[in-house]
Amino acid sequence: MNAIDNNTEVNSVPLEEIDVSRPELFQNDTWQPWFARLRREAPVHYLADSANGPFWSVCSHPLIKAVDTNHTVFSSEKGGIAIADPIPMNEEQIQGQSFITLDEPKHMRQRMAVAPTVAPKNLTEFEPLIRERAIDILENLPVGETFNWVQEVSIELTARMLATLFGFPYEDRHKLVYWSDLTTAVPQVTGDDSIDMDARYAELMTAAGAFYQLWNERAKEEPRFDLISMLIHNEETAKMNEDPSLFLGTILLLIVGGNDTTRNSISGGVIGLNQFPDEYQKLRDNPKLIPNMVAEIVRWQTPVIHMRRTALQDVELGGQQIKEGDKVVMWYLSGNRDENVFEDADRLIIDRPNARGHVSFGFGVHRCMGNRLAEMQLRILWEEIMKRFHTVELVGDVERLPNNFIRGIKDVPVRLHPL
Ligand code: HEM
Repeated sequence: MNAIDNNTEVNSVPLEEIDVSRPELFQNDTWQPWFARLRREAPVHYLADSANGPFWSVCSHPLIKAVDTNHTVFSSEKGGIAIADPIPMNEEQIQGQSFITLDEPKHMRQRMAVAPTVAPKNLTEFEPLIRERAIDILENLPVGETFNWVQEVSIELTARMLATLFGFPYEDRHKLVYWSDLTTAVPQVTGDDSIDMDARYAELMTAAGAFYQLWNERAKEEPRFDLISMLIHNEETAKMNEDPSLFLGTILLLIVGGNDTTRNSISGGVIGLNQFPDEYQKLRDNPKLIPNMVAEIVRWQTPVIHMRRTALQDVELGGQQIKEGDKVVMWYLSGNRDENVFEDADRLIIDRPNARGHVSFGFGVHRCMGNRLAEMQLRILWEEIMKRFHTVELVGDVERLPNNFIRGIKDVPVRLHPL
């Protein structure tokens, strides 16, 4: 392993030694020049040795799309979806199985069963309650004081959204965030070896128990507008509870999918508008830009930094020979900053004409299932913010997490300036 650290000059490192998976690049927010160099010199780049073994990096927008849409060659099932290999479990433990780590045709069968729950028609039903719960947060924020936007708004709103979606007891909503954080809290992702994996498993079984209880209660009731009730009353998924692995895996996928991603987009929007005050002014002058701004925030923030695939056969990509079994990492964060696709790509530009061309939701068969829900939530939040506050002012340093999978933001100190 080489001794590259945060002070190393990008161009001084031999191309073949560049490791864009180092978690500190994302913690320090210093990843930009490394990916820019790979896009320029090696958009398909091989690293022979890293903390996650050898892997290919795919860094340009068109090549990321090429991998993501070629699911017959690039598998999600073979080695999982993250650069860190899946965690081995002992045989007695229930291995949550979810469709994000399945290939066709199994993937699509399961996805089609669950997808209607977040179809646009159903989202319209959720909208009033999500708005009401967002307003309640904003109306109770401590005006005139410095506080952490992540804790008070991003996490809280996401917890409320998940509780709304699942029809989960509202007073217990923070458990959903806790379980989601726990699902992703594995040493391979966080670098923290002290995590007690048995205690983690026991907690996840508590989560399963809570969802079984909810399922049994809903099964006795008339159909209603929440995800569990919809799964019960859909022929395809009505018996999902009989397969613990499928049940736990699907529920956790929906919680995890919607948790960190939306949370960090909410935080990222505040950072972006403060970094580019002209854009904040554009928004004040024309709040109709909010839907496009939401897409631009999702591009600029890129909440999921990468997705990983495993090659099922030898294949040529961008002039490089990938071998069967190789680990291939699509760096969405880099694709979204591709200067050949997005002009002035490092800037947040809220009326960017092709903001929707981002790769933050992926492409192809695994394209994010909750994208419209996420966009709706961000739209509602910004609509309500703009009705109340002239500025959500960033007043201190942003603290980020050392994580190469989720672009995690921990602390965004802000002060509110009402209209
Ligand atoms: C800004 C917010 C979000 C971002 C950036 C995001 C990003 C992603 C990405 C990158 C993928 C994989 C795409 C691929 O492999 O091609 C994905 C899949 C998925 N997301 Fe999201 N997501 C977000 C919000 C949500 C929400 C709110 C939900 C909740 C319902 C959700 C549920 C899912 C599910 C179920 C999948 C698996 C789809 C499949 O394998 O077919 N996501 N998401």
